[in-house]
Amino acid sequence: MLKIEKVSLKDLDEICAFEIRVFDENNFRLSRNIFRYHLKKKTFFLKAILDKKIVGYLMLFAYKNKSSTRLYSIGVDQSFTRQKIASTLIEAAIYRSKKLGKNKIFLEVRQDNFAAIALYNKLGFVIIKELKGYYPFNGNGYKMALNL
Ligand SMILES: CC(C)(COP(=O)(O)OP(=O)(O)OC[C@H]1O[C@@H](n2cnc3c(N)ncnc32)[C@H](O)[C@@H]1OP(=O)(O)O)[C@@H](O)C(=O)NCCC(=O)NCCS
Repeated sequence: MLKIEKVSLKDLDEICAFEIRVFDENNFRLSRNIFRYHLKKKTFFLKAILDKKIVGYLMLFAYKNKSSTRLYSIGVDQSFTRQKIASTLIEAAIYRSKKLGKNKIFLEVRQDNFAAIALYNKLGFVIIKELKGYYPFNGNGYKMALNL
Protein backbone atom coordinates (compact mmCIF):
# COMPACT_ATOMS: atom_id res chain seq x y z
CA MET A 1 0.00 0.00 0.00
CA LEU A 2 1.20 3.49 -0.86
CA LYS A 3 2.36 5.55 2.10
CA ILE A 4 3.07 9.29 2.07
CA GLU A 5 5.52 10.49 4.72
CA LYS A 6 7.85 13.39 5.41
CA VAL A 7 11.39 13.03 4.10
CA SER A 8 14.05 13.15 6.82
CA LEU A 9 17.84 13.45 6.84
CA LYS A 10 18.19 9.68 7.05
CA ASP A 11 16.53 9.42 3.61
CA LEU A 12 19.20 11.58 1.99
CA ASP A 13 21.11 8.76 0.23
CA GLU A 14 17.94 7.18 -1.09
CA ILE A 15 16.52 10.52 -2.27
CA CYS A 16 19.76 11.35 -4.11
CA ALA A 17 19.82 7.95 -5.83
CA PHE A 18 16.15 8.47 -6.73
CA GLU A 19 16.89 11.92 -8.20
CA ILE A 20 19.64 10.50 -10.43
CA ARG A 21 17.28 7.77 -11.70
CA VAL A 22 14.34 10.04 -12.36
CA PHE A 23 15.78 13.38 -13.50
CA ASP A 24 18.03 14.11 -16.44
CA GLU A 25 21.34 15.68 -15.38
CA ASN A 26 20.82 18.54 -17.85
CA ASN A 27 17.42 19.29 -16.50
CA PHE A 28 17.63 20.90 -13.07
CA ARG A 29 18.61 17.71 -11.27
CA LEU A 30 18.84 18.63 -7.59
CA SER A 31 22.07 18.08 -5.70
CA ARG A 32 22.65 16.44 -2.34
CA ASN A 33 23.47 19.86 -0.90
CA ILE A 34 20.15 21.28 -2.04
CA PHE A 35 18.26 18.37 -0.50
CA ARG A 36 20.23 18.69 2.73
CA TYR A 37 19.58 22.44 2.83
CA HIS A 38 15.83 21.96 2.44
CA LEU A 39 15.72 19.18 5.02
CA LYS A 40 17.48 21.40 7.56
CA LYS A 41 15.25 24.31 6.63
CA LYS A 42 12.16 22.12 7.19
CA THR A 43 10.79 22.66 3.69
CA PHE A 44 7.59 20.68 3.00
CA PHE A 45 9.16 17.57 1.51
CA LEU A 46 7.21 14.35 1.09
CA LYS A 47 8.12 10.86 -0.04
CA ALA A 48 5.83 8.21 -1.50
CA ILE A 49 6.74 4.73 -0.31
CA LEU A 50 5.85 1.33 -1.72
CA ASP A 51 7.31 -1.82 -0.17
CA LYS A 52 9.66 0.31 1.96
CA LYS A 53 11.19 1.96 -1.13
CA ILE A 54 10.94 5.62 -2.14
CA VAL A 55 9.03 5.69 -5.43
CA GLY A 56 8.22 9.39 -5.53
CA TYR A 57 8.76 12.72 -3.85
CA LEU A 58 7.47 16.26 -3.83
CA MET A 59 8.89 19.52 -2.54
CA LEU A 60 6.68 22.54 -1.90
CA PHE A 61 7.93 26.00 -1.00
CA ALA A 62 5.87 28.30 1.19
CA TYR A 63 6.86 31.90 1.87
CA LYS A 64 5.58 33.85 4.86
CA ASN A 65 4.97 37.04 2.88
CA LYS A 66 3.24 35.39 -0.10
CA SER A 67 -0.32 34.20 -0.56
CA SER A 68 0.81 31.33 -2.78
CA THR A 69 3.01 28.25 -2.57
CA ARG A 70 5.36 26.92 -5.24
CA LEU A 71 5.51 23.29 -6.25
CA TYR A 72 9.26 23.15 -6.66
CA SER A 73 9.87 19.52 -7.58
CA ILE A 74 7.97 16.29 -8.10
CA GLY A 75 9.07 12.95 -9.47
CA VAL A 76 7.90 9.36 -9.64
CA ASP A 77 10.06 6.36 -10.47
CA GLN A 78 9.35 5.34 -14.05
CA SER A 79 8.44 1.77 -13.06
CA PHE A 80 5.65 3.13 -10.87
CA THR A 81 4.12 5.82 -13.07
CA ARG A 82 0.41 6.00 -13.97
CA GLN A 83 -0.58 4.73 -10.52
CA LYS A 84 -1.69 8.15 -9.23
CA ILE A 85 1.41 8.54 -7.06
CA ALA A 86 2.13 12.08 -8.32
CA SER A 87 -1.57 12.96 -8.00
CA THR A 88 -1.57 11.76 -4.38
CA LEU A 89 1.55 13.82 -3.60
CA ILE A 90 0.04 16.93 -5.22
CA GLU A 91 -3.21 16.44 -3.30
CA ALA A 92 -1.13 16.52 -0.11
CA ALA A 93 0.53 19.74 -1.33
CA ILE A 94 -2.89 21.24 -2.05
CA TYR A 95 -4.08 20.31 1.44
CA ARG A 96 -0.94 21.80 2.98
CA SER A 97 -1.24 25.02 0.96
CA LYS A 98 -4.87 25.46 2.02
CA LYS A 99 -3.96 24.79 5.62
CA LEU A 100 -1.37 27.56 5.41
CA GLY A 101 -4.11 29.90 4.14
CA LYS A 102 -2.65 30.21 0.65
CA ASN A 103 -4.88 30.81 -2.38
CA LYS A 104 -2.71 29.60 -5.26
CA ILE A 105 -0.04 27.09 -6.15
CA PHE A 106 2.46 28.00 -8.87
CA LEU A 107 4.88 25.74 -10.72
CA GLU A 108 7.17 25.73 -13.73
CA VAL A 109 7.36 22.95 -16.30
CA ARG A 110 9.23 22.37 -19.55
CA GLN A 111 7.03 22.77 -22.59
CA ASP A 112 8.08 19.34 -23.88
CA ASN A 113 7.24 17.56 -20.61
CA PHE A 114 3.89 16.30 -21.87
CA ALA A 115 3.39 13.83 -19.02
CA ALA A 116 3.80 16.50 -16.37
CA ILE A 117 1.63 19.03 -18.22
CA ALA A 118 -1.12 16.40 -18.62
CA LEU A 119 -0.88 15.63 -14.90
CA TYR A 120 -1.08 19.30 -13.88
CA ASN A 121 -3.98 19.96 -16.28
CA LYS A 122 -5.87 17.01 -14.88
CA LEU A 123 -5.51 18.46 -11.38
CA GLY A 124 -6.78 21.87 -12.51
CA PHE A 125 -3.55 23.81 -13.11
CA VAL A 126 -3.65 26.21 -16.06
CA ILE A 127 -0.85 27.83 -18.06
CA ILE A 128 -0.51 31.48 -17.11
CA LYS A 129 2.77 32.43 -18.78
CA GLU A 130 5.32 31.23 -21.30
CA LEU A 131 8.89 31.10 -19.93
CA LYS A 132 11.24 31.50 -22.89
CA GLY A 133 14.70 29.98 -22.33
CA TYR A 134 13.89 29.19 -18.70
CA TYR A 135 15.46 25.71 -18.92
CA PRO A 136 18.99 24.70 -19.93
CA PHE A 137 19.79 24.43 -23.67
CA ASN A 138 17.19 27.07 -24.57
CA GLY A 139 14.38 24.91 -23.23
CA ASN A 140 11.14 26.84 -22.99
CA GLY A 141 8.80 26.44 -20.08
CA TYR A 142 5.37 27.32 -18.81
CA LYS A 143 4.38 28.82 -15.54
CA MET A 144 1.19 27.15 -14.34
CA ALA A 145 -1.17 28.00 -11.51
CA LEU A 146 -3.89 26.34 -9.52
CA ASN A 147 -6.48 28.46 -7.73
CA LEU A 148 -7.31 26.98 -4.34
C1 LIG B 1 5.16 13.52 -14.57
C2 LIG B 1 5.13 12.48 -13.45
C3 LIG B 1 5.44 13.17 -12.12
C4 LIG B 1 3.73 11.81 -13.40
O1 LIG B 1 3.69 10.94 -12.28
P1 LIG B 1 2.58 9.77 -12.16
O2 LIG B 1 2.64 9.24 -10.78
O3 LIG B 1 2.74 8.83 -13.27
O4 LIG B 1 1.23 10.58 -12.40
P2 LIG B 1 -0.25 10.07 -12.07
O5 LIG B 1 -0.31 8.58 -12.12
O6 LIG B 1 -0.71 10.73 -10.82
O7 LIG B 1 -1.03 10.66 -13.34
C5 LIG B 1 -2.27 11.34 -13.22
C6 LIG B 1 -2.72 11.75 -14.60
O8 LIG B 1 -1.75 12.59 -15.24
C7 LIG B 1 -1.73 12.32 -16.66
N1 LIG B 1 -0.44 11.69 -17.03
C8 LIG B 1 0.54 11.27 -16.20
N2 LIG B 1 1.57 10.75 -16.92
C9 LIG B 1 1.20 10.84 -18.22
C10 LIG B 1 1.82 10.45 -19.45
N3 LIG B 1 3.04 9.87 -19.46
N4 LIG B 1 1.17 10.71 -20.59
C11 LIG B 1 -0.03 11.29 -20.61
N5 LIG B 1 -0.71 11.65 -19.48
C12 LIG B 1 -0.09 11.44 -18.31
C13 LIG B 1 -2.86 11.34 -16.90
O9 LIG B 1 -4.04 12.09 -17.13
C14 LIG B 1 -2.93 10.61 -15.58
O10 LIG B 1 -4.17 10.02 -15.33
P3 LIG B 1 -4.47 8.55 -15.98
O11 LIG B 1 -3.28 7.67 -15.68
O12 LIG B 1 -5.74 8.13 -15.27
O13 LIG B 1 -4.65 8.78 -17.46
C15 LIG B 1 6.19 11.35 -13.72
O14 LIG B 1 6.02 10.87 -15.04
C16 LIG B 1 7.63 11.79 -13.53
O15 LIG B 1 8.15 11.77 -12.43
N6 LIG B 1 8.32 12.20 -14.62
C17 LIG B 1 9.75 12.57 -14.54
C18 LIG B 1 10.02 13.76 -13.64
C19 LIG B 1 9.21 14.98 -14.04
O16 LIG B 1 9.02 15.27 -15.22
N7 LIG B 1 8.73 15.73 -13.03
C20 LIG B 1 7.93 16.93 -13.25
C21 LIG B 1 8.82 18.09 -13.49
S1 LIG B 1 7.89 19.59 -13.74
